[in-house]
Amino acid sequence: MSEELPTGVQRRTFDGTERLATRGESVYGEPTEGEWRAWNPHRSKLGAMLELSMETGLAGGETVLYLGAASGTTVSHVADFAGPTYAVEFAPRPVRDLLEAADSRERLFPLLKDARKPETYAHVVEADVDVIVQDVATRGQARVALENRRFLADNGRLLLAVKARSEDVTREPAAVFADVREELSEGYEILETRTLEEYHADHLGIVARPR
Ligand SMILES: C[S@@+](CC[C@H](N)C(=O)[O-])C[C@H]1O[C@@H](n2cnc3c(N)ncnc32)[C@H](O)[C@@H]1O
Repeated sequence: MSEELPTGVQRRTFDGTERLATRGESVYGEPTEGEWRAWNPHRSKLGAMLELSMETGLAGGETVLYLGAASGTTVSHVADFAGPTYAVEFAPRPVRDLLEAADSRERLFPLLKDARKPETYAHVVEADVDVIVQDVATRGQARVALENRRFLADNGRLLLAVKARSEDVTREPAAVFADVREELSEGYEILETRTLEEYHADHLGIVARPR
């Protein structure tokens, strides 16, 4: 069990089961209790990282750049407890749902942009964000993190979910993870890694800070 959840994230009981929860409008049909909505770690790598007690450094209220927002499953929870939350997603279809999730969340800013081209949103995203959350599930995941390092404050954190099969379906996940870690270390110091296997097959969770 996680002892240090960010302010705004709580363990609450839904249908007799204790689960992570944030306060906000429902987004993906998740169970709700009053103002609280359950955060499903099977559908969210960041949710899994919190369930596994990884040291995310999240305290609540921070400025977040979220890469790979899709339709907003995870980033909606983030915007429930964080400060300004910039949500980058390059596929137009999920962005429609993301815009809907942002309707009731005044701190959530969807950006229809390619995370490999940070110069296209550098004029919108404020400098020195506290946290980058990345879940792009695409080839070149370390490169995306390195390209976006420019936005991160010196004492900020990268919370990265790496999907092995997105890099190369034919290789052993462990070999892929080793390569990603090595490439990442060009610009980041890795503080913690943990398999997210319990919730997401062949995914590695990484907490890092800029070097
Ligand atoms: C695994 S899904 C993200 C799920 C989401 N993070 C969540 O938990 O709710 C990966 C997403 O990354 C997006 N993506 C992949 N490459 C991207 C890129 N270069 N720029 C922006 N989004 C990208 C995909 O379109 C897809 O929606």
